[in-house]
Amino acid sequence: MRADGESSGIAQVGAAAVADDRTGAVCDQAAAQGNDESGAAHDDAAYRVDDGTAVASNWPDVGAGVTTDGSVSRADVGAGVTCDGRTTGVADQGMTIWLTGLSGAGKSTIASMLTDRLTKLGIAAEWLDGDELRRALGKGLGFSREDRFENIRRAVYLADMLNRHGVVTVVSLISPYTEMRDYARQTLPRFAEVYVDCALEVCESRDVKGLYAKARRSEIPSFTGISDPYEIPPGPELTLHTAGQTPEESVNTLLAWLTEHTSLKLNQ
Ligand code: ADX
Repeated sequence: MRADGESSGIAQVGAAAVADDRTGAVCDQAAAQGNDESGAAHDDAAYRVDDGTAVASNWPDVGAGVTTDGSVSRADVGAGVTCDGRTTGVADQGMTIWLTGLSGAGKSTIASMLTDRLTKLGIAAEWLDGDELRRALGKGLGFSREDRFENIRRAVYLADMLNRHGVVTVVSLISPYTEMRDYARQTLPRFAEVYVDCALEVCESRDVKGLYAKARRSEIPSFTGISDPYEIPPGPELTLHTAGQTPEESVNTLLAWLTEHTSLKLNQ
């Protein structure tokens, strides 16, 4: 499922307005789920972008919404009124940018730089990286399919919490299985999947951590790309080809996508 512009980015405020005017069903559902955003329906259309070229478009305007005076708010990051009458504020801009790809493809570098750029623009942003997440919260987790899923489930839990507090969360995890990424997509109301595409041979030749060499010598079992699968995303919002780009260029491509498809204020 993909979030759509009517029911997701604007839903937090829009849904409240609709519920007030009509049946209240949307808000009741949202309240039942404990998340004003998540009660909104999503549909399956989405942007399909390859290196910044949009080929379809319905990404939600993150944070855009109807203000209390009825005007459409982008600058106020979706300030508005929730179902129970509370005003909403920064929380509306929370979204997750999910970087997936092989080890060595450049996910962490791009995620780190992107988080830094967003922070410098005054946007609350956090970076959840695979290695760090596993170090901090992944005790006992290995690289079986089940353990990888558990790792991703924890990242999604954190991202959801951060998003609800208005934090743009940049996740960099191999997340090799489509099922796992779809779980993230379905759980997180505002979600952009970014495929950090880099040929295995290039990742292996980079071998920043020396892990590919070890995996080739069978010293590391179930190593993604060598002895464990990586399922190429069938429909990411954006694909970055890092073999032919500098990290700066990849980050600029990502920022351009965010500028075009969300209401994050990136042109300051
Ligand atoms: S995921 O599959 O669960 O998403 P995650 O991104 O957290 O993986 O961790 C990947 C990192 O763990 C790699 O960048 C690498 O440093 C390290 N690693 C250690 N063993 C493996 C392995 N068997 N497969 C992939 N990465 C591994």
